[in-house]
Amino acid sequence: VPVVAIVVAAGSGSRLGAAVPKALVPVAGVPLVTRAIERLAEGGVGEVIVVVPAAEREAFVEVLASAPVPVIWVDGGAERQDSVANGLAALPDLDEADAEGQVVLVHDAARAFVPAEVVARVIEAVRAGADAVVPAVPVSDTVRELTDTGSVVVDRARLRAVQTPQGFRRGLLEDAHAALYETRMTVTDDAAAAEYIGCDVVLVEGSRDAFKVTDPFDLVVAEAIAARGEP
Ligand code: CTP
Ligand code: MG
Repeated sequence: VPVVAIVVAAGSGSRLGAAVPKALVPVAGVPLVTRAIERLAEGGVGEVIVVVPAAEREAFVEVLASAPVPVIWVDGGAERQDSVANGLAALPDLDEADAEGQVVLVHDAARAFVPAEVVARVIEAVRAGADAVVPAVPVSDTVRELTDTGSVVVDRARLRAVQTPQGFRRGLLEDAHAALYETRMTVTDDAAAAEYIGCDVVLVEGSRDAFKVTDPFDLVVAEAIAARGEP
């Protein structure tokens, strides 16, 4: 049973402000979504479900014409959570035992430079029995939390920034998203969805390279990483 990754690429990229959807933006000539899928494949993913803006599907098919793994295409939803749910609904049928235990990753196309080692680490932790696996990195800024009357400092040593790919057993992720759908609960990542149904979240070491390309500053960093090569 292949490890499958749901690659969410259906956002518009409003903060980046490019003329095309963010996942199609090229860095050193190669679109973010193409880079993301190359890294996933290198890390052990055998099949991808790519969730795209419905109106742009043809452009995505073109840039992934020679993807290293089979691609299933799905249209995105209004929020990231809806896009993941659409991706889950498109998972290929397997017999029940295989489906329950299949390793499913969820990855942001915008985290195009995730090292293959991080992908492999997430897969390994799911195989070792973790419910939900999240790559995370320490936070370098001191952080203050806003309160009703001002703000309070947060103990930085206890903070971690969360990245993708996040990994799950398929049955569990399907249950988590079904529960969210039923209660109209919204979350910003899939580990929070798993936590919502009572799962423990295991952190593994992420990487600065797995940062999410979000605004024009990040494209400067992305070009530099592309010029530097693999970590
Ligand atoms: N995403 C998605 N469907 C949505 C919203 C986001 O598939 N309805 C994806 C994006 O394509 C991205 C990932 O979720 O790969 C993380 O989202 P974000 O970085 O916020 O991307 P955008 O929503 O495209 O950017 P912005 O918020 O600046 O518009
Ligand atoms: Mg967004």
